[in-house]
Amino acid sequence: MAVTNAYYVTTPIFYVNDAPHIGHAYTSVACDALARFMRLDGKRVKFLTGTDEHGQKIAKSAALAGLDPKTFCDRVSQNFRDMTRLMNLSNDDFIRTTEPRHVAATQALWLELEKRGQIYLGRFQGWYSVRDEAFYEESELVNGKAPTGAEVEWVEEENYFFRLSEWAEPLLRHYAEHPDFIGPTSRRNEVVSFVKGGLRDLSISRTSFSWGIPVPGNPKHVIYVWLDALTNYLTAASYPDTRNVEYSTFWPPSLQMVGKDIIRFHCVYWPAFLMAAGLKLPERVFAHGWWTVEGQKMSKSLGNFVPPQQVVDAYGCDAVRYFLLRELPFGSDGDFSHRAIVQRINADLANDFGNLAQRVLSMINRNGEGRVPPLGRLTAEDEALLAAARGLLARQRAAYGEQSFHRALEMIWEVVGSANRYVDEQAPWTLKKTDPARMGTVLHVLAEVIRHLAILVQPIVPEAASRLLDQLAVPAERRDFAALAAPLTAGTVLPKPEGIFPRHVEAV
Ligand code: MSP
Repeated sequence: MAVTNAYYVTTPIFYVNDAPHIGHAYTSVACDALARFMRLDGKRVKFLTGTDEHGQKIAKSAALAGLDPKTFCDRVSQNFRDMTRLMNLSNDDFIRTTEPRHVAATQALWLELEKRGQIYLGRFQGWYSVRDEAFYEESELVNGKAPTGAEVEWVEEENYFFRLSEWAEPLLRHYAEHPDFIGPTSRRNEVVSFVKGGLRDLSISRTSFSWGIPVPGNPKHVIYVWLDALTNYLTAASYPDTRNVEYSTFWPPSLQMVGKDIIRFHCVYWPAFLMAAGLKLPERVFAHGWWTVEGQKMSKSLGNFVPPQQVVDAYGCDAVRYFLLRELPFGSDGDFSHRAIVQRINADLANDFGNLAQRVLSMINRNGEGRVPPLGRLTAEDEALLAAARGLLARQRAAYGEQSFHRALEMIWEVVGSANRYVDEQAPWTLKKTDPARMGTVLHVLAEVIRHLAILVQPIVPEAASRLLDQLAVPAERRDFAALAAPLTAGTVLPKPEGIFPRHVEAV
């Protein structure tokens, strides 16, 4: 059992046939928010991302680019590594499936499965889609294509097979006994009915190309790219060295994030491989939805891939992170449009949160000699606002626990809204003349509420939150969730306030 205080979160590893786009950034930012949240909540976190570099699809893309596969992979993988910095990801590791550590782990898993009688040599005949790197049943084809719309080709070759058919019952039992294993529920139902339909043994090697990890003992075969790719999660936890402290601390993963297109691999094949090898299963797999762009599916032919760099240049990293996690219920599909992101930036970030901070901090700067004013007797209104802020942590934990980022943000913004109404009702600017002590109390209450909001919003907008905490003179070691209980001290000198969330102004 992984230590209870540990949290291991993974993104899918990205194919290096293409440059990163906002769909990739989405998965990664969601995992980053979880990783940051859990670290702030005192957990030992391991956050893994990386690239998936073997298989026919990559070999073809390399050939098309006129490069040998390794040179091609080095080049494209670097783009994904660059994306981690661009999106301000706090990953602890970046794995590439062409690394020796991963080749060793994949071959070790193969040998373990073989030792346990889970692998046999047979003859494969069937449909294969290179784009999806997946086999399809005749009955699954739609107008001669994969259900995803990808081209398929007929493959007949000697292959090794994994005894997947033996694992249907144990999988169904696992889903039943662990209702949280797959989220959201709609995806869970989809997986359960797929497995109930029966499972056939799975082809797990190929002989018609060589860009992959050789099958131990029979290098004519390379290991099926999905068996290779899924093993990355084990590799990074130091498998096959299961005595390693990294393994005992972090295996099994707490949360594996995937897009809805790859749940069959993560919720059926992957747990079957793990059970068959006698290894522990991840605690949860969550499948998020897909983004369209300005109403259209992102596709090469339409030329509407949106590179993360383009949106970060246009709107800023924090704003993009906020938009991705706020705009839709996590798990649903959504549309990335210029109008929608500008609306979120100007309404939620600049008007609601930005103005609240700016108003309060500049009043303290002007009227309280730049110091946090003393707190007088509290009214029911003061208590209510403080209680709303203090009650947020437990509710954030619940929302993050079910990957409900939009709910987590909605809750924070409810308190932002209450704080803005409180400013209007208490009108500290009029108290300045009539009751300066009361004005001090109001500003102190507001500063304390903003401190809570800034600490709690760090996982989503880390840079802006950090600047806001600087302006509240909160020291670096007092920014985790444990520090929420330690209120601001009257008399603390605050630096001159500066805007946190700029408005988006259209370039003319
Ligand atoms: N290499 C496999 C994953 C192997 S994991 C052991 C793969 N790679 S991918 O690069 O094609 O996709 C990576 C992730 O990006 C997937 O989870 C996929 O769902 C996600 N997205 C790709 N396009 C997307 C959108 N348009 N919107 C949201 N996410 C999307 O699959």
